[in-house]
Amino acid sequence: MSDKLDLGALAEARQYVRWVKRMRLTYRVESAAKPEVEVPIKQTKVESVTEMAKPRAANVPSKIVKPEWEGRPEFAALAQRVDACRKCALGATRTNAVFGVGDPNADLVFIGEAPGANEDASGVPFVGNAGNLLTRELAKNGVSRDEVFICNILKCRPPNNRDPLPEEIMACEPHLLEQLKLLKPKFLCGLGRHAIQTLLKHEVKIMKIRGQWETYNNLPLFVCLHPAAVLHQPQNRALFEADIAALAKAYHGRDRGGA
Ligand code: URA
Repeated sequence: MSDKLDLGALAEARQYVRWVKRMRLTYRVESAAKPEVEVPIKQTKVESVTEMAKPRAANVPSKIVKPEWEGRPEFAALAQRVDACRKCALGATRTNAVFGVGDPNADLVFIGEAPGANEDASGVPFVGNAGNLLTRELAKNGVSRDEVFICNILKCRPPNNRDPLPEEIMACEPHLLEQLKLLKPKFLCGLGRHAIQTLLKHEVKIMKIRGQWETYNNLPLFVCLHPAAVLHQPQNRALFEADIAALAKAYHGRDRGGA
């Protein structure tokens, strides 16, 4: 590896940090919608820094490696790396890393912002009331949770569901990009304003762009309301239902040109 400073990359990183910091000025408006029913969380023993830096022994089975990833060792290996990741401080406070669930050959990937309490406790994304709403709405439109892939930008829960810090996003987004490289989906669906802003790297008015297609990492990104926000603002339920129906239509028609 060259030890020369890559000024282009440095400038890009600085611009990114500036944007994320700016974004946080208006980042909380929807945060009342975030918490779901809190489940008691097993306290994680905080390891010493040297303990945290130790790689997980290769023969220690991780409960995040799922049977459906059989035959995709690179997927299981990435899940293990995410599980062992200590690139930011969240690795020390979370109970479980939440890698994601679903079909490693999925054509459609859902991306939320970060695990909540239920997800942290179970290691599975979108399992609380919001997750149930998403699962039900997909099923109504002929899409099973098992045939898609569901994950978050951050793999570890920020304590008390606080907004992700810029450095946490910078540390964790590469995991998402690696996931997408392996999954090779046809479509992405970003859930909620926070996730969409983080993916697009600029502020958005979610009520203006919901139901539309944007682009992330050269992939079509469908903008959808967050199911948790919809639970807190039931007047938006019909919009959420319309979003999922439109997404399912594009997904079902993917061999005919999709989005
Ligand atoms: N909200 C998210 O954004 N992600 C989850 O996994 C659960 C709730």
